[in-house]
Amino acid sequence: MDLDEREISAETITPYFEQYFGHKPQVIAASPGRVNLIGEHTDYNEGFVLPMALNKINVVAVAPSPTGQHRWIGAIGEQPVVIDPADATHTGDPFWSNYVRGVICMLERRGIKVPPVDMLIDSNVPRGGGLSSSAAFEVSACTALAALCGADVTPTERALIGQATEHEFVNVPCGIMDQFISANGKKDHALMLDCKDLSDKLIPRTDPAVSVLVIDSAVKHSLADGGYAARRKNCEDACAILGIHSLREATLEQLDANKDKLGDLCYRRARHVVGENLRVAEFAQALAAGDWDAAGRAMRGSHASLRDDFEVSCAEVDTLVSLADTIPSAAAVYGARMTGGGFGGCIVALVKSDAVEQVAHQMLDAYRDALGIETAYIVTRPGDGARILYQA
Ligand code: GLA
Repeated sequence: MDLDEREISAETITPYFEQYFGHKPQVIAASPGRVNLIGEHTDYNEGFVLPMALNKINVVAVAPSPTGQHRWIGAIGEQPVVIDPADATHTGDPFWSNYVRGVICMLERRGIKVPPVDMLIDSNVPRGGGLSSSAAFEVSACTALAALCGADVTPTERALIGQATEHEFVNVPCGIMDQFISANGKKDHALMLDCKDLSDKLIPRTDPAVSVLVIDSAVKHSLADGGYAARRKNCEDACAILGIHSLREATLEQLDANKDKLGDLCYRRARHVVGENLRVAEFAQALAAGDWDAAGRAMRGSHASLRDDFEVSCAEVDTLVSLADTIPSAAAVYGARMTGGGFGGCIVALVKSDAVEQVAHQMLDAYRDALGIETAYIVTRPGDGARILYQA
């Protein structure tokens, strides 16, 4: 995770926009990355997730382009990519432009015609660390473009547009969690989402005595690699065997009764999903009650299940999670688990605030001693979801 400590705002991005394009932006939108506290690989099984938005944001500044062509700059310091409006709704190069192409295509499918735009993107969401930098990008691009077109697109609709972009333009068969929290997050709250009907509930996360610590394993993950899609297929196979629509409907008793029919692999995959939904409920209750020990227990259970039953962790992430139990300040850690899609990426831990910096440094030192890997951490509070920073 490349930590980017810069603050990004309308004030910081506007001078660059003017310098590149020679005119002012008309809309500037921001949308955050996320960390999932619990509920992993449940979203595409119509289950429950409980993420929070980060204070790290992707910012998109746009204005109609006077050239009749799209001109998009992927990051400050880069040259613009010029795209003919006729090509802007198809996949193409450079790779990152597909996030915007997808959003334009999905807006047009909803009858919203996006004019050729000048666009500048800036972001301080760490990339490749499993903190949903791509969902942040899709949702901020959608928020900016919808506002530029004067179209009323609800946060949840923007999340669905982001998800469809992943499916059709980036080839990642993701669930709805990342885009939903990026669009709907709220400062000082975690959000519990029912992925079956997209109803959500905000849960205050304000206790100053407990901090959320995120540590990168420095193992880059890609959900386009096949492991993610393979897990989805395992879950679908389990449903077909059980004759149900989604694993949301299954119970642990039902899985046990059908263990032979399911076979070891589908049984374990399904057991993770069914158990994880129960753990989300336990965690939500613990969070609301401020029962941090119970919250930590649910997180530990989640990690063990993702490691052993769902098999989406990896040796480095497992090392980090077990170091949380063995460092000298381990007593300050309520619980730790992998977060996000897996196969690398970050861990998330709930830690006593007065010891969180100490815990973080001990974890980093112990990780370096164990595996020779230098890495980084962030201590984070729940931030706001997508918003307009400026509109002319
Ligand atoms: C990735 C996907 C999400 C979700 C998680 C696993 O972040 O984008 O939809 O499936 O993995 O919980």
